Amino acid sequence: MKRINVIIKVTDGCNLRCKYCYNSESCYTSEILPLERFEKLLTLLSDSFDSIALVWHGGEPMTCGLEYFKKVVEIEDRIYAQTSVPIQNTIQTNGTLIDKKWCAFFKKYRFNVGVSFDGINNDRYRQRSEDTLKAMELMQKEKVPFGCLTVVGDNDYDMFANYRYFAEKGIHVAFTPLFAEGGGVDLEPLSAEVFIKKSNELFDYWLYDKNGVNVRTFSGYISMLLGSHSKLCTNGSCLGKWLGIEANGNLYNCGRDSMKEFCFGNIDAMDDISEAFTSDGFRELLIGSIERRKKCKASCEFFDFCEGGCTDCAILENGIDAISGFSCICFREIFRHIREAVQVLIENKVPLSELNPVINAIAVKCLSEKDDE
Ligand SMILES: C[S@@+](CC[C@H](N)C(=O)[O-])C[C@H]1O[C@@H](n2cnc3c(N)ncnc32)[C@H](O)[C@@H]1O
Ligand code: SF4
Ligand code: SF4
Repeated sequence: MKRINVIIKVTDGCNLRCKYCYNSESCYTSEILPLERFEKLLTLLSDSFDSIALVWHGGEPMTCGLEYFKKVVEIEDRIYAQTSVPIQNTIQTNGTLIDKKWCAFFKKYRFNVGVSFDGINNDRYRQRSEDTLKAMELMQKEKVPFGCLTVVGDNDYDMFANYRYFAEKGIHVAFTPLFAEGGGVDLEPLSAEVFIKKSNELFDYWLYDKNGVNVRTFSGYISMLLGSHSKLCTNGSCLGKWLGIEANGNLYNCGRDSMKEFCFGNIDAMDDISEAFTSDGFRELLIGSIERRKKCKASCEFFDFCEGGCTDCAILENGIDAISGFSCICFREIFRHIREAVQVLIENKVPLSELNPVINAIAVKCLSEKDDE
C-alpha cells in the first residue's frame, strides 16, 4: 500500500500571533491555495499513490472559511469517484473559529481535528484562551472527536499539571517541545534535561492512571515497542512518504520553515508527482539524511526505532548530516525509560486492568496489525 501524507499550508494568514510561532518569519501573508491547484495536486497524487492523507495546516486553515472547505470535499469526492483512491483529512487549528456549522462539517466528512492549545499556559504563549475553550466544549457537546497539541515552551512549563488539566476534561494530548526555529524571542530555551525529567515523571504517573487520556509520544513509543509499523513522522524516514505544499504551489518535504532550502519544484509545472521525488531539492535532502542515518546506525542502539529522527530537527540542531542534539537526546532518554517500564510490566505480568486503559487500546491495535500480516 503506497500512502502519501501531505501537509497543506493552505494559507500563511492567521488570526493569532502566538509568541513562539515559527510561522512569524512568513509574515502571515494571506494568499490562499487556489482550488484548481488543489485539484491538480490530488490528480497527480492519485495517479501514483493508493491512499492520500491530507493535513490542513497554515497559518490558520479555518481563516479560509467553510465555503472553501465545502469545495475542497467536493473536489475530493470527484477524484475518489474517478480513481477509488481514499482521501483522509486532518485539520490542525487554533480552534478560535469553530462553531456549530464547522462541527457539523467535521462530523459529516470525518475530519480528524487537532486543536492547538497550551492548557494552563495558554494565555502566556498563545491568546484568546476563552474562544478556544468554548470551541472545545462545543466539539465535546456535538461529539466531534479531537485532540490537543500543546507546546512545552520553556523550563517553567508544568507537564504534570497540564496533563491533569487535559485529563480532567477528557482530552487527548500531545506535548511538543519548542522547536529551535520558534519565532518567540523572550522565551528561555527549554533544556533537554528538564524536558526528559518532566516527561519521564509524567510517564510513570500516566502508565497507572486509570482515568488517563492518550499522550501521543507515550502511546507512539509503546506501539513501536509492541511491534507496530505505524510510527510518528519524527521516528521513521519521512522522505518519499510526506510532502508539504504552500499556497503558491511550491512543494517541500513538510511544512517546517527550514525545508524552504530544499524545494521540490512547483505543482503547476509538473505532469507527474515523481518529478518532486527526483528534484534537486529532494536529492540534496536525501543525501544529507542518508549520511546522518549512517552515523546513527553505526552508533545507536535505538536506530531501528528512531531511524535518525526528524530531518528538520537535525537541520536546526547540528546540520542535516550530523546526529541531532536536543531531539536525539530527548528521544533516547524518554524511549529508554519507556522501554524499561514496558519490560518490567511484561516480566511481572502486570494485568492490563491495573494500567491506563489507553495501554489496552494500544495492545489491541498492535495485535490486530499482526493478524493482518
Ligand atoms: C504553525 S501552527 C499552524 C496551524 C494552526 N494555526 C494551529 O495553531 O494549530 C501548527 C502547530 O505548530 C505549533 N508551533 C508553532 N511554533 C512552534 C514552535 N516554535 N515550536 C513548536 N511548535 C510550534 C503550534 O503550536 C501549532 O500546534
Ligand atoms: S501557532 Fe498557529 S495560531 Fe498561533 S500564530 Fe502560528 S499559525 Fe497562528
Ligand atoms: S536516537 Fe539519536 S543517534 Fe539514535 S537514531 Fe535517533 S537521532 Fe540517531
